[in-house]
Amino acid sequence: MVPAAGRGERLGPGAPKALRGLGGVPLLVHAVRALARSRAVTLVVVVAPADGVARVRGMLADAGAEGSDSGPRVLVVPGGATRQESVRLGLAALPPEVDVVLVHDAARPLVPVEVVDAVARAVDEGAQAVVPAVPLADTVKRVGPADGPGRPEPVLDTPDRSMLRAVQTPQGFRRDLLQSVHDKALSDGSDATDDAGLVERYGGQVVVVPGHEEAFKVTRPLDLVLAEAVLARRRAHDDF
Ligand code: C5P
Repeated sequence: MVPAAGRGERLGPGAPKALRGLGGVPLLVHAVRALARSRAVTLVVVVAPADGVARVRGMLADAGAEGSDSGPRVLVVPGGATRQESVRLGLAALPPEVDVVLVHDAARPLVPVEVVDAVARAVDEGAQAVVPAVPLADTVKRVGPADGPGRPEPVLDTPDRSMLRAVQTPQGFRRDLLQSVHDKALSDGSDATDDAGLVERYGGQVVVVPGHEEAFKVTRPLDLVLAEAVLARRRAHDDF
């Protein structure tokens, strides 16, 4: 599943983030192709901005990503006001026979197929919830509130960096577990920035497999510059 219904305001004004171009192709199309490259993927559910379903269907059809005979089937459904709601709407659109779900942000267009395969394999081999992750380059500090606007924030402590990971997508789940944590979150009114966070909140075990530096999230304008460079390098090496 690809939740792609966010506005992406940190990227600056313009079209919804998933529909912005990277190498002349929308981020969303890259993300769908990245999943479709994995033989573990049989269906891709795209959760589109509610007012952009027809546009997204057209975009995927133009790119040959929708309804092609070779790759997985692609289904486009309308999303919601939050990422969590969009994932819930995507889950509701899954056919009954699906029992493993990978949730992949449209904002991570360049995830290598090895990462998709590793996540799917870990779920197949018995994990309930799997996230790809990479070690942190930066030291991270926990801060408290500043004592006034524009004042420096006091540092509370420095977590041991060797124990920290930056989490990427696709995140993989047993479908029944993902459905039950989303149902609980809806009735509790709780919110998490990723799906694995919901599993943790309700006491489930999440495990980590190696992610990849090219699976970074396109959030700010500089990320698009980096993504263009990665894509140009892949195209130059003819493996894309
Ligand atoms: O905003 P952020 O980058 O964390 O969004 C992560 C992913 O969730 C993006 O692919 C975005 O399109 C999606 N999303 C969504 N529905 C929303 C908000 C975000 O599908 N209402």
